Amino acid sequence: MIAKNNRGNFGSKLGVILASAGSAVGLGNIWRFPYEAGDHGGAAFILIYIGCVLFFGIPIMVAEFSIGRHSRTNTARAYQILAPGTQWKWVGRMGVLAGFLILGYYSVVAGWTLDYIVQAATNGFAGQSADGFIGAFNGFVEHPWRPAFWMLVFMLMTHFIVVRGVEKGIERSAKIMMPMLFIILLVLAGCAISLPGAGNGLHFLLRPDFSKLNADALLSAMGQTFFSLSVGMGCLCTYASYFRKDVNLPKTALNVGLIDTSVAVLSGLIIFPAAFAVGIQPDAGPSLLFITLPNVFQQAFGGLPWLAVILSVMFYVLLALAALTSTISLHEVVTAYLHEEFNMTRRKAAILVTVGCSILGVLSSLSLGIGKELTVFGMTLFDFFDYLTAKIMLPLGGFFIAIFTGWYMDKRIVWKEVSNNGMLKMWIYRSWLFLLKFVAPIGIAFIFINELGLLK
Ligand code: TRP
Repeated sequence: MIAKNNRGNFGSKLGVILASAGSAVGLGNIWRFPYEAGDHGGAAFILIYIGCVLFFGIPIMVAEFSIGRHSRTNTARAYQILAPGTQWKWVGRMGVLAGFLILGYYSVVAGWTLDYIVQAATNGFAGQSADGFIGAFNGFVEHPWRPAFWMLVFMLMTHFIVVRGVEKGIERSAKIMMPMLFIILLVLAGCAISLPGAGNGLHFLLRPDFSKLNADALLSAMGQTFFSLSVGMGCLCTYASYFRKDVNLPKTALNVGLIDTSVAVLSGLIIFPAAFAVGIQPDAGPSLLFITLPNVFQQAFGGLPWLAVILSVMFYVLLALAALTSTISLHEVVTAYLHEEFNMTRRKAAILVTVGCSILGVLSSLSLGIGKELTVFGMTLFDFFDYLTAKIMLPLGGFFIAIFTGWYMDKRIVWKEVSNNGMLKMWIYRSWLFLLKFVAPIGIAFIFINELGLLK
């Protein structure tokens, strides 16, 4: 018998995979990945990225799963259970903070997707020139309240799902949204690849340009890996605390890694061919999806206005769905922490998170408009949160999680969790431990040190 505790559990293995993949697949794949890849040499970046997924991402995900499922609590408390009286708890606490910060700027972009759904549905892209799209986007993100309004709407959607709990809220919504997401993704990829001139985009995506691979590109690929897989801050550790004992952790991690990477590459297959088909360079940065894509829809399907409307609505719905299953997971990390550590009800904890993140969201949103002058280390608040979390906090968290599981944690517990009482082959376990003990920490440290320029 599988004991059910009163914290709530995922009801099925499919639910576990869809919810975890839902956390992983998000704006990171469809919004962030294409512009990072576009900025750093396309296929060359993607190769490094896939290496990071295999050597850092998936092994550390298995570690997070083991920590979470064994301790059955929020990510901060988990370390206190596994390593009582030590400072390891700070790894968990840093994770909660990272989750809070990520949600604070991620929800801004998530809000943009809602506004663009409305614009697309009301045929707002029709007849605009290329400059028109740039002006429209800049005007929108700099607007004092429109993006903040949509950010709040998105935050409330997230809130209501999280408040409903693990099985009825998180699992059920993932089971509805993830299949929708896959269908839309396939339809759009099919359309993009069949555009005339799309071949140049495929070329860009498949032929590596190694000349662009510098220290910065390495750090970006590593940051993108952690960000995209939701690894390094205890997000999947929190989800795993709701897994039942019969869930196969390594298999789940492999599935999530595979789904997440496929979605990233598929988004690349939509965005690059589409951009090249209408002659737009793909290194436009964060605005790629909101300037380039509407332009592509207009230019490619302008002759068939209804098709342009349908495809562009589908595209922004895709983004919103992907974002929502991810904001839910970020919200859950902080909510579970407050709920369990400060003895408040789940509802009250969730309200605090929603209010706190909304304030951060408004600030990050304003930092792209009125607050542009106010910079931290030369970055807007929005860019700073992105840099601090994706490129510093997550890899650092991943580094410590690898060391914790590989070196510190009691290996009987590790083996018990990872193998489900002996079901895993020994050589896989040994190789995984080797990756955690040596490859991941040394690799992450190397990329950090390289970026600081200390190797020259
Ligand atoms: N992985 C999500 C994406 O690609 C974002 C995300 C959700 C995340 N939960 C996370 C990132 C935890 C880092 C850590 O969009």
